Amino acid sequence: MDPKYIRNFSIIAHIDHGKSTLADRMLELTGTVQKREMKEQLLDDMELERERGITIKAHAVTVVHRKDGQDYVFNLIDTPGHVDFNYEVEKSMQACEGAILLVDASQGVEAQTVANAYLAIEANLEILTVLNKVDLGHARPEEIAEEIENSLAIEATDAARISAKTGLGVPEVLDRIVDAFPAPKGDPNAQLRALIFDAVYDEYRGVIVYLRVFDGTLRKKDRVLMIGTDKKFEAVDIGVFSPKMISRDQLSVGEVGYFVSNIKTLGDVRIGDTLTLERGPTPEMLPGYKEPRHMVFADFYPTNPKDYVTMRDALDTLSLSDSSFSYEAVTSEALGFGYRCGFLGLLHMEIIQQRLEREHDLDMIQTAPSVTYKITFPDGSEKMISSPGALPSPDKFDQVLEPIVRVAMIVPSDYIGVTMTISNDHRGVFVRQEHLSPTRVQLIYDIPLAEIMYDFYDKLKSATRGFGTLNYELTGFEPADLVKLSILVNGDEVDALCAIVHKSFADPRGRAILKKLRAEIPRHMFEVRLQAAIGSRIIARESIAALRKDVTAKCYGGDISRKRKLLEKQKAGKRRMRQVGNVEIPQKAFLSVLGSE
Ligand code: GTP
Repeated sequence: MDPKYIRNFSIIAHIDHGKSTLADRMLELTGTVQKREMKEQLLDDMELERERGITIKAHAVTVVHRKDGQDYVFNLIDTPGHVDFNYEVEKSMQACEGAILLVDASQGVEAQTVANAYLAIEANLEILTVLNKVDLGHARPEEIAEEIENSLAIEATDAARISAKTGLGVPEVLDRIVDAFPAPKGDPNAQLRALIFDAVYDEYRGVIVYLRVFDGTLRKKDRVLMIGTDKKFEAVDIGVFSPKMISRDQLSVGEVGYFVSNIKTLGDVRIGDTLTLERGPTPEMLPGYKEPRHMVFADFYPTNPKDYVTMRDALDTLSLSDSSFSYEAVTSEALGFGYRCGFLGLLHMEIIQQRLEREHDLDMIQTAPSVTYKITFPDGSEKMISSPGALPSPDKFDQVLEPIVRVAMIVPSDYIGVTMTISNDHRGVFVRQEHLSPTRVQLIYDIPLAEIMYDFYDKLKSATRGFGTLNYELTGFEPADLVKLSILVNGDEVDALCAIVHKSFADPRGRAILKKLRAEIPRHMFEVRLQAAIGSRIIARESIAALRKDVTAKCYGGDISRKRKLLEKQKAGKRRMRQVGNVEIPQKAFLSVLGSE
């Protein structure tokens, strides 16, 4: 294939602005998929993606568009729009020369529109702006074009106005792509250099590697080398996505497709690596990308301790198809054996949790999500920790530094005040404010990641009646007045309930946790003392009065079968209890404190 007739591009947009729908229309209008085969959002093939209507993994597809009697091959890479998956967007962009910036003409520029557009600009991509959903009565394409120009300094007056839903204007976009995006450049006679920009695990075929050829040619049966990992494979099958996998004998300069070998796990493939031929000189690596960074950690414990091995198997299986989360074994005195998992963000965490429960039928307790803290010691050394239990006692270290994110929020001008209040309440530091249009404004704050983890987004949404959107990126670590909040039951610390909190929030947080525990822990034969403490200082206390309780007392010694039933019921109840010292804490109590109930 002459690279002159190839165009490689991504579609980038804020969530729900219509990327997948536009990709579907392109597949249909180019005849790649017949209309009757067309399912909505064809590229979102994971069950969970369909259900949530979001794209989790990036997908590539090859279509052929005819313009002025000439066939052009378009390699279209669909990308996810949610902040947690930003790194997927970056990866996809490396394989492209252009990006379609899709903006919903009724919603306008949103937080991820800005974030993704900047990513595309940084990746030196040509940008083609497209206004979508003009079929909606309240679409305001003129206004939105102006907003794009104001916020991104990208020319948008001539932007194509389309409806991805009805197909209106989409043929024109296909024509524009030919002129707007440059053809890929590369040397077909040079040694092979192909960029691995994604990989997925398939039950039947093993790992499917997505690649983009920059120089040279990859042929079926070639022996290849992945430069970064120094791993060697045979190209058992290569081909393109159309959208199903279609075998080809070779892939050359500018082409995007797949590579299948006997690769058993995603761990064997590094995204961003360069693929070359085993024979001949090893060329210079293509610029790679950043490793995905784990922002959020949480522990998963099986509700039934017997499920520990099942849980490990489930995590092993999940990691075959998602290499972006980590897990390691942990033990908690209160909750037993479990796993600490690292995620890209909260949505990612929720997805993994649901997949464990759904695909592996596991019942589990999940601890409150936590961020990673940096601890500095008097001798100048540093350590990263991701659980309160790992925090050394205060006399042993110098400082605790917490991750700070730069948060960009786009809200209607009427809501500037409430947005600022919410940000300030979450220890935010104002950075700047930009007017995108007379009615919309972008507010930039630096906020500790731990503060936006729980309910920040929900609060922003409800305070702005659903109009506020946000994006964040990690900017660094800053020292903060953080303490370990311990929860004690009759003097014993319950590790699973401890947390690292800001000193000023420790008191109310401690009181709230004790209230919940008090409501859930049944009376014992003795008094149960509940305490919240920072170090040796008690900051809150509650107590549960003693009760002498004989469950069979009500039975007047009469009906023995009823008596037995009651005793059995009590025994079953006990199984769902966790023993802390001599106190039994029901699982429900943990759930209520950890917020899953
Ligand atoms: P993510 O994959 O979650 O990032 O979203 P997306 O950008 O791929 O959006 P998607 O294609 O899933 O579209 C979101 C919603 O907007 C769906 O309900 C679509 O049917 C609807 N939609 C997309 N394009 C149009 C359009 O041109 N007009 C109208 N009225 N609705 C549209």
